[in-house]
Amino acid sequence: MSAYRVAELLHEGKAKRVYRTDRPDVVAVEFKDDATAFNAQKHAQLAGKGALNCRISALIFEHLVARGVPTHYLGIDGSNWMLVRPVTIIPVEVVVRNVAAGSLCRQLPIAPGTLLPQPLLDLYYKDDALGDPLLTEARLQLLGLLDAAQLSVVQQLALHINVELSQLFERCGLQLVDFKIELGFSSDGALLLADEISPDTCRLWDRAVADGNDRILDKDRFRQDLGGVVEAYGEVLKRVQGECPQPRVYG
Ligand code: TMP
Ligand code: ASP
Repeated sequence: MSAYRVAELLHEGKAKRVYRTDRPDVVAVEFKDDATAFNAQKHAQLAGKGALNCRISALIFEHLVARGVPTHYLGIDGSNWMLVRPVTIIPVEVVVRNVAAGSLCRQLPIAPGTLLPQPLLDLYYKDDALGDPLLTEARLQLLGLLDAAQLSVVQQLALHINVELSQLFERCGLQLVDFKIELGFSSDGALLLADEISPDTCRLWDRAVADGNDRILDKDRFRQDLGGVVEAYGEVLKRVQGECPQPRVYG
């Protein structure tokens, strides 16, 4: 449990619950053990996943904060609770891809595992009922989600995060295949990295393992019924812990 007095539930997503606290400038995020895929058509409880993703996300946020990335992150409090600044989430999923995998290979004639000539940035409209459709810049403007200047900031931030995370994971013996981030506006209008960065939201391959399935250390183990999901996330935590500052306990 969070040491803050947790007030009402503000939002429940597939993997997290977000609560108001007794402080207007602090929101508590509870990481759940639920695992979902394919727009929640596939669902399971994986004991320990919430705590692992909370800890991994905290380590990564600490790492990014130290490198000048503005985030909502304040600290952790308990095994699966994170304290963050309140933000209005922009309903856009920002995906950066370094290696072809997943939907890119289903939608385009590119073989899985192909190293992309440069990072590919894809934007999706965050709406489960619509199946998170791919956005064009014109569609983004049509929906009024981000203006041109904000889009440029988001793109630069996402590519900066990609450089920092690729280097971090490289030192951990992991290849950052792709990842998804979400951003939000704070009450003073600042654009902040939000949500989580974990093996639920990244594809991470063990560089020392050649086998295409055995090297997977992310949610593709769940999506593809490979087993060993929590063990893989534990391995990611073990490696990332060696490279990041310890998460601050907030409060
Ligand atoms: P994709 O290949 O399915 O488009 O996924 C790209 C990356 O985004 C991958 O690292 C998984 C992550 N992702 C999420 O975090 N949430 C989602 O809902 C989806 C579809 C992908
Ligand atoms: N996060 C999405 C879901 O829970 C899709 C995915 O990650 O594969 O359904």
